[in-house]
Amino acid sequence: MATGKEIVVSGIRSTGFLHLGNYFGAIRNYIRMQEDYDCYFFVADWHSLTTHPDPKDLRGNVFRVLAENIASGLDPEKVALYAQSDVPEIAELYLLLNMLAYKGELEKVPTFKDKVRLQPQNVNAGLLTYPVLMSADILVHRAVKVPVGKDQEQHLEMARNFAQRFNNRYGQLFPEPVAFNFGDNLIRIPSLDGTGKMSKSENEMATLYLADTDEQIRKKIMKAKTDSGPLEPGAPMPETIANLFLLMQQVSAPAVISDFERAYQDQAIRYGDLKKQLAEDMVRFIAPIREKAQELQQDKPYLNRIMKAGAEKARASAAQTLQAARKLIGIDYY
Ligand code: TYM
Repeated sequence: MATGKEIVVSGIRSTGFLHLGNYFGAIRNYIRMQEDYDCYFFVADWHSLTTHPDPKDLRGNVFRVLAENIASGLDPEKVALYAQSDVPEIAELYLLLNMLAYKGELEKVPTFKDKVRLQPQNVNAGLLTYPVLMSADILVHRAVKVPVGKDQEQHLEMARNFAQRFNNRYGQLFPEPVAFNFGDNLIRIPSLDGTGKMSKSENEMATLYLADTDEQIRKKIMKAKTDSGPLEPGAPMPETIANLFLLMQQVSAPAVISDFERAYQDQAIRYGDLKKQLAEDMVRFIAPIREKAQELQQDKPYLNRIMKAGAEKARASAAQTLQAARKLIGIDYY
């Protein structure tokens, strides 16, 4: 459908509970983009299969991600919201792009190397070609902007490479998509223990989920690592403290943040107070999303309707791209 608006695509894997990293890295941008762009947002259920989830968990996981997206403020009337597996054109484009992707470059991708370390018993071809499937998700709608967190930057570079390679070999079809964030930089929400980033499946106590209860939120934040405070005026902020301020910047009032920043500079800061404030502001932020998402998950017919309508819109756009791609490659026999 030609609306004249720029095309935007992004997806979230249905592998666990959504957390603040997903929200501030991706979903917050989705919500801001839904008015001014032609948006395609999806649940990456094929991508989740690399780790062989139990078949009876799939539906619930997909519905939860959909519900959490809508509860966060996505309007399914404005954007196409769908499951990746409902758009078979993505699989076809994945196959075509695989012919232009080289084993050597795929083996060098940092996320692949991480997975090899984490699950050496299951290094399947789906894992190796994960960035090709992701490129197909994006290129199938000829998207130009892809709202994602910092961890996906490299995957976007690969999508640009594949687009370029296709265009050079067969003729111009794909724009080169860029990773997008409002503001200058892509975001990385750190974990509460200061050892990495918030993540769906690792270090649960150090990750804040959109489904966490008020008590869980308070407990996790009060346990976050701190130290005994700045030793001299103007001392550089250690990472664990900077992380708490970064979270505060997402959910607390500007005046509250600057009070704590001043207290830090004056060496008068009490980390217990900082964490209590952050915990209460976080509860206020997460609770309405959690409650709305729970309510939406009860309404299966509604979620089914949304998914179907989203898939229809996505397939219409994807079919046009595939028709053009087949023609350029020479697969147009009739
Ligand atoms: P996934 O499911 O791991 O994460 C979904 C989105 O959340 C962002 N994110 C973060 N941002 C900031 N800080 C964090 N700690 C953090 N953790 C996660 C991710 O950057 C992402 O934007 N491969 C993708 C899913 C995908 C996709 C696509 C994305 C499949 N096809 C096409 C965009 C376009 C992934 O695993 O994201």
